[in-house]
Amino acid sequence: MIDLSSNARQILKARYLRQTDRIETPEDLFKRVAKHIATVENVNKNLWFDRFYKVMRNLEFLPNSPTLMNAGLPNGQLSACFVLPIEDNLNAIFTTLKNAALIHHNGGGTGYNFSKIRPKDDLISSSEGSSAGPVSFMKIYDTATEYVKQAGKRRGANMGILNINHSDIEEFISSKSDLHSLQNFNISVGITNDFMYALEKDKDWQLVNPRTNKVSKTLSAKKLWDSIIEQVLKTGDPGLIFLDTINQNNPLNKLGKIQSTNPCGEVPLFNYESCNLGSINLKKMVVQNSTNIEIDWKKLERTITIAIRFLDNVISCNYFVLPQIQEITLSNRKIGLGVMGWAELLIMLEIPYASNKAVELAETVMKFIHEKSYNASQLLAKKRGCFPSWKQSSFSPHMLLRNATCNSIAPTGSISIIADTSYAIEPLYALAYKRTGILENTTQMEINATFVDKMKSLGLWSEQLHSEIIEKGSIQHVKNIPTHLKNLFKTSLEISWKYHLLHQRAFQRYTDNAVSKTINLPNTTTFEEVSEIYKTAWKYKLKGITIYRNGSRDNQILQLCGFN
Ligand code: GDP
Ligand code: 5AD
Repeated sequence: MIDLSSNARQILKARYLRQTDRIETPEDLFKRVAKHIATVENVNKNLWFDRFYKVMRNLEFLPNSPTLMNAGLPNGQLSACFVLPIEDNLNAIFTTLKNAALIHHNGGGTGYNFSKIRPKDDLISSSEGSSAGPVSFMKIYDTATEYVKQAGKRRGANMGILNINHSDIEEFISSKSDLHSLQNFNISVGITNDFMYALEKDKDWQLVNPRTNKVSKTLSAKKLWDSIIEQVLKTGDPGLIFLDTINQNNPLNKLGKIQSTNPCGEVPLFNYESCNLGSINLKKMVVQNSTNIEIDWKKLERTITIAIRFLDNVISCNYFVLPQIQEITLSNRKIGLGVMGWAELLIMLEIPYASNKAVELAETVMKFIHEKSYNASQLLAKKRGCFPSWKQSSFSPHMLLRNATCNSIAPTGSISIIADTSYAIEPLYALAYKRTGILENTTQMEINATFVDKMKSLGLWSEQLHSEIIEKGSIQHVKNIPTHLKNLFKTSLEISWKYHLLHQRAFQRYTDNAVSKTINLPNTTTFEEVSEIYKTAWKYKLKGITIYRNGSRDNQILQLCGFN
């Protein structure tokens, strides 16, 4: 039997295990997936089946949810991430809406940049009427998403972007201020370096109508920035996406500009491009020596090599709902291997998240993953050929690669529950918390098992500690706990935003796609702090930034899985 937590069993049963004549067991599920992914292998199918199965059943590596749900099914869409085009005409807008519905229906999430759409009340020559504007079309997308739920398992998810110079940017910035609107959207302002320079120099900024290219309004960059920060403080939205940073690091910039990411921001993609993700459970990448626990680098390398091959195979045995998606996805062959369980690994190594040692280790670990991922992709290129658009990429002519990108840090909102570990690179949210939403209408109390184990091993666990933790979710206030343990078990809101950002930067440095991270902030966080966080994110060359101020939305699901 696989060693699964009770949460993992629940979530698998509710959403992942196939129910035909009999219900799949988790073993069946991982076998179904491994078998499908191994069909791509010409020789040694059984050997690869075995390897793929083992890394999943040992919870060392898991692919994104759609692969777990759909592999082996007829027309099984295996990718989680898509970007679709938005053009400024009704036909195109509703064609993309239909395509988004097909993608959502099969468990994928879609991102779009709405900046080509003419502003609200602009002229429509064919009807002599006036246009609805980008925000109205987003609302239509949102409503459609609400009604296309994938067999009740996974509803659609969208990323909506509007560029900072669009005439309707002010309306967009406050489009989620009413907490009931655009619930199926994450929204981000598309920021350019020019805007950030204007902000630094306190200059004016021009808003432009994309249909006429004429300036529709001039206002101070600072005023516009402040309106973003005010909204973010109130609701957490909008996030920012740094378009120039993304395109400066785009190995396929000869093919055009990237304008959008998938819903959680970890994959910048061209229009119609899709990407499939997978994450290594770092908690499982350790070895116990006689005196202490260390990272097992050999095991990590082996796992990376298997995972990259797995993800490359996914592209070859994937089902694409549209020919355009198939064409560009097969041409660039982007994959995103990332991590989960980073916080738990740090705890096992007794390194506090909020420490320079942790940030340094983050760089070391991600550099290693990046290098070994590229080695694996290079090896595949030698056997299977480079990705077809390779000649137009910045890797040509010297660096053979099978995949235009190899790494992304996804939020792992669901798969980290299956693997029973902490989300992606996030610190522990709390040591004990009520979790709602794993299954509809259920709320359960949870205490972090790694914490309990540690306390027990030190002889510090007691009934009294148990009830104190349940009450506060933290040990910072508990007497008789040594300072080094208090530091080790600081939770997300107890960690300064500076360390949240340093971790995001450390991982971004060695991630060719992007890093999904929520900078969780206490309720008392000020306007100035949020402004500084957003500015620092740009200076750090992050590709995007999202914050959440505790308590700023009333329907908060305590955990960070977001969409459930
Ligand atoms: P996991 O594999 O389910 O753990 O997914 P992640 O939380 O790591 O998210 C990865 C990507 O999957 C996101 O960026 C989205 O593109 C997509 N995604 C995540 N959650 C949902 C969801 O609830 N619905 C849909 N349609 N897509 C989602
Ligand atoms: N841009 C990018 N990611 C976002 N998320 C939420 N809003 C945005 C946004 N505007 C991501 C969080 C988290 C997940 C639940 O969604 O960073 O990883």
